[in-house]
Formats: sequence, C-alpha cells, structure tokens
Amino acid sequence: MPTVNVMPADAKKLDEIIKSYENKQGRVLGVLEEAQKLNKHNYLPEETINYISSKLNVPLSRLYSIVTFYSFFNLKPQGDHTIIVCRGTACHTKGSKSLLDDIAAMFGGTKELEGGEPSFTTPDNKFTIRTVACFGQCALAPVVSIDGVIHSNVSPPQLRRLVDKTLKGRK
Ligand code: FES
Repeated sequence: MPTVNVMPADAKKLDEIIKSYENKQGRVLGVLEEAQKLNKHNYLPEETINYISSKLNVPLSRLYSIVTFYSFFNLKPQGDHTIIVCRGTACHTKGSKSLLDDIAAMFGGTKELEGGEPSFTTPDNKFTIRTVACFGQCALAPVVSIDGVIHSNVSPPQLRRLVDKTLKGRK
C-alpha cells in the first residue's frame, strides 16, 4: 500500500466518491471511473491512483491491472477531442494507413504511432489520436470515429473537413 506523499488536488472530492461507494459492489471499478471523470483531461494521475489505493486499502498492483485492462481508463492526459482510426484488415485495404499518415502530418505524433504506441495526444491537449483493431463495420471501410461519431468510407479530404469542423466546434 502506498504512503500518500503527494495529495491529489481533488482529494476532497475523491473522499466523497469513495464514501458514496461504501458497501457497494464493484466499488473499486466505480471509484476509479468516477475519479477519472473528475480530471479535466480524463485520466488517472499517479497521485490519484496512490490515494485511492491507500484509502480503499487495495494494492497498487491490483489497481494498475484494472486500469490497464479496461480501455476506457487512461493513464495519460486525453485531448478535448478523440479521433480513432480503424487499422483492421478491411480498413487497411481501403486506405486507413494514409488517413493515419494525414493525421500524423496534421498533428505530429508520427514517432509515437510508428513506435507502436496505440495513441498520442497533441501538446495542446486538443486531440487524442487512437487506433482500433476493428469497429465491426468492415463493410463501411475505412472507418474513423470522431468524438464517438462513426464516419464511414472516409477519404483523406473528407477527414480534413471533419477535423476542421471539429476544431470549429461544428458537427
Ligand atoms: S476493419 Fe475497420 S471496421 Fe472492421
């Protein structure tokens, strides 16, 4: 169990969350989920995980195995917008690699993606770019999701328009 050296800024709110899950099933998962929502960049900082570990009396190793198992948990700050490019076979065949290359050209992050990282976030925290193995919509390849909205048969010019609209706050 960690000794909490660095108190998270939102310790008070974390205490309330932990209290609200007292004697509830799925307590650990629930607390982690709510704790992530507290963070404006939608992730679980190290001090938050340490704090939860000490308060719930759950080993850090268990918390990290949960957080790394579920894809909706993040250990790094996330962008205001999320772009997910499908890299499954059908999408690859229909050009998803060039979509990803275009995104890398727009936002940087080429190194991260080429280095095998599944995602990167722009330094201004505006966009997080992820890849996924398959959206289950192979007939619509190539598929890109922007802020949870699925776009099908996406071409590079269309992708640029979608990113532009997202930046301007239009749907
Ligand atoms: S391979 Fe892209 S949706 Fe299935």
